[in-house]
Amino acid sequence: MTPKNYDVKDMSLAETGRRRIEWAYREMPVVRLIRERFTAEKPLQGIRISGCLHITTETANLALTLKAGGADTILCASNPLSTQDDVAAALVDYGIPTNAIKGEDETTYYKHINTALDNKPHLTIDDGADLVSTIHTRRSELIDNVIGGAEETTTGIIRLRSMHNDGQLKYPIIAINDAQTKHFFDNRYGTGQSTIDGITRATNILWAGKKVVVCGYGWCGRGVTMRAKGLGAQVIVVEVEPVRALEAVMDGFQVMPLLEAARVGDIFITVSGDKNVIDKAHFQVMKDGAILANSGHFNAEINIPALEEMAKSKRTIRDFVEEYAFPDGRSLYLLAEGRLINLAAAEGHPASVMDMSFANQALCAEFMVKNKGKLEIKVHPVPEEIDKEVARLKLRAMGVEIDSLTAEQQKYLASWEEGT
Ligand SMILES: NC(=O)c1ccc[n+]([C@@H]2O[C@H](COP(=O)([O-])OP(=O)(O)OC[C@H]3O[C@@H](n4cnc5c(N)ncnc54)[C@H](O)[C@@H]3O)[C@@H](O)[C@H]2O)c1
Repeated sequence: MTPKNYDVKDMSLAETGRRRIEWAYREMPVVRLIRERFTAEKPLQGIRISGCLHITTETANLALTLKAGGADTILCASNPLSTQDDVAAALVDYGIPTNAIKGEDETTYYKHINTALDNKPHLTIDDGADLVSTIHTRRSELIDNVIGGAEETTTGIIRLRSMHNDGQLKYPIIAINDAQTKHFFDNRYGTGQSTIDGITRATNILWAGKKVVVCGYGWCGRGVTMRAKGLGAQVIVVEVEPVRALEAVMDGFQVMPLLEAARVGDIFITVSGDKNVIDKAHFQVMKDGAILANSGHFNAEINIPALEEMAKSKRTIRDFVEEYAFPDGRSLYLLAEGRLINLAAAEGHPASVMDMSFANQALCAEFMVKNKGKLEIKVHPVPEEIDKEVARLKLRAMGVEIDSLTAEQQKYLASWEEGT
């Protein structure tokens, strides 16, 4: 049955979306195993879930898995530019009300969030904490119903930890991003590959020989630099944290302040989760033709208002490429309005890596329901047994076997008596 509480661009896209969702599912063996078990056991029967996620083929497979577990699931977008309209239509067709249109304005974005919340969730699943913050600030009547929430990304977890530190968090959250099987792989290999993919699709540039400046050498930054280097780019890293900067140096990258890098870079990529990382002073010294892209969660990493103010004119050159012409004759090119380039101009992370992130999501949803009322109100890590189980299942699906400790080794590793 087609649900009514949905808002998508065009239902005639549903068939294309269905085929793409099926294609992604082939690369999601861990989610597949969970879906098979959920279908049999129905651990989420009677549970209402509101998900604010990038509406991609992988998210669709998570939503279908939650539905298979018995959940009444409703979705909205977690970014105005990341929705795949065919997937949104297919989800509605599958009976999962979805509220997401690529390019929606801010009013529609929040209207969609509120529609997802009208379902009175027992569980919230966020990518960036917009559901949780809306519930806490404008829909607090819903809090008593909520068992718990899950947060997908680094930036969302930072927001939620500060809510907790301010004494404002009113229900427990599981930090999915903190699972090793999430950020080691999704943030590094997923963001690494898909950010390069997004910039390539938007611009069709050749990476070989380009000077690429990456701001932030965290999990995402490591991935982006690794892949840019692999394509022949000369990579410069900008950091504020000394250990991370040192790691970048020893990984073979040039490290320097952004003001210096700004003068030489051809392509700038922000993945810091911070605000105004690329600012007025940097725009002032950048070379004519420099390309600016962000793959961090919010479109705050490049100071776009300053860019707008400094430029004498602006025009769209091709999809996702905006030219800002300066009075001194230089032009800078901003990609995808400074929003997550990998999701705006490409398709986000490949399914194979989201398999692990979303396996953690599905298993944590089950965990929160099983532990209803028992979890302290704070931001929890993903239980270690879930993290390890996801790794075990992924290895098995990849046909990779590993050794196990002998009894002697277990004893040795747990003891302190034996030395030289
Ligand atoms: N594009 C995607 O699909 C995707 C996927 C995962 C995470 N993210 C987002 O990407 C961002 C980074 O995530 P992460 O997991 O790599 O975080 P992280 O905390 O591991 O790394 C961020 C790094 O940026 C550095 N940094 C902070 N301010 C800086 C500044 N002004 N200049 C230079 N460096 C600075 C920090 O020191 C840190 O090393 C977050 O916003 C996260 O939510 C995006």
